[in-house]
Amino acid sequence: MSRDGLPLGRAASPDDPLRVAVLVSGRGSNMEAIARAAARGEIPVKVVKVVADRPEAGAIARARALGLDVSIVDYRALGREAYHRRLLEEVEASGAELVALAGYMRILPPEWVRRFERRIVNIHPSLLPSFPGLEPHRQAIEHGVKVSGCTVHLVDEGVDSGPIIVQRPVPVDDGDTPETLAAKVLEVEHRAYVEALSLLASGQLVLTGRRVVRRALEAHGSTAEGSSSS
Ligand code: GRF
Repeated sequence: MSRDGLPLGRAASPDDPLRVAVLVSGRGSNMEAIARAAARGEIPVKVVKVVADRPEAGAIARARALGLDVSIVDYRALGREAYHRRLLEEVEASGAELVALAGYMRILPPEWVRRFERRIVNIHPSLLPSFPGLEPHRQAIEHGVKVSGCTVHLVDEGVDSGPIIVQRPVPVDDGDTPETLAAKVLEVEHRAYVEALSLLASGQLVLTGRRVVRRALEAHGSTAEGSSSS
């Protein structure tokens, strides 16, 4: 009954936390939610680096206020190639095992994705595969869906197309605008991202095909909740 597959993350502990680098472009509330959960000891994760791709990102001040190690790698000043090279140097020098994109507005090139294969995660504010890309809340409202939400997924070479780790729904009300829906989804995002990192730091996740599943826990001597197999 054990599930074969490619392991995702690893079994981390408070003494040996999963080392995570967070890439940001904007406000940084997801980064903050992750860092706070880690600092409170809710998840065996350590944010070893925050990298912002632009000096105006509000996330920079937030990360500094949390005492995190922040680097600014300015895309506009460096240009595409030099930017991605520097970004790689920063992330590798930090010793990060996992890269978490949190409101990071750039598409990582294929070489970058391959270098960190199955070790990059992203959060997108829709229930993928619906409404990938830009303005997902506007897309959701214009389509008329009654439920939207957020998705934490592995990053592959496409846009918002990688295997799904966690999804959480949010009702869309008749009066919702992209802004009100974004605010409701954002709150849920913060919990979903922490939950996904908790799973990745449990050493229980495996990738089988496109599916991210919890492997049976016989080896750990306990029973996996929700691990019903058919
Ligand atoms: C979030 O809704 C995230 O899903 C999207 O951009 C927003 C970033 O918010 N990609 P923050 O920077 O984490 O506050």
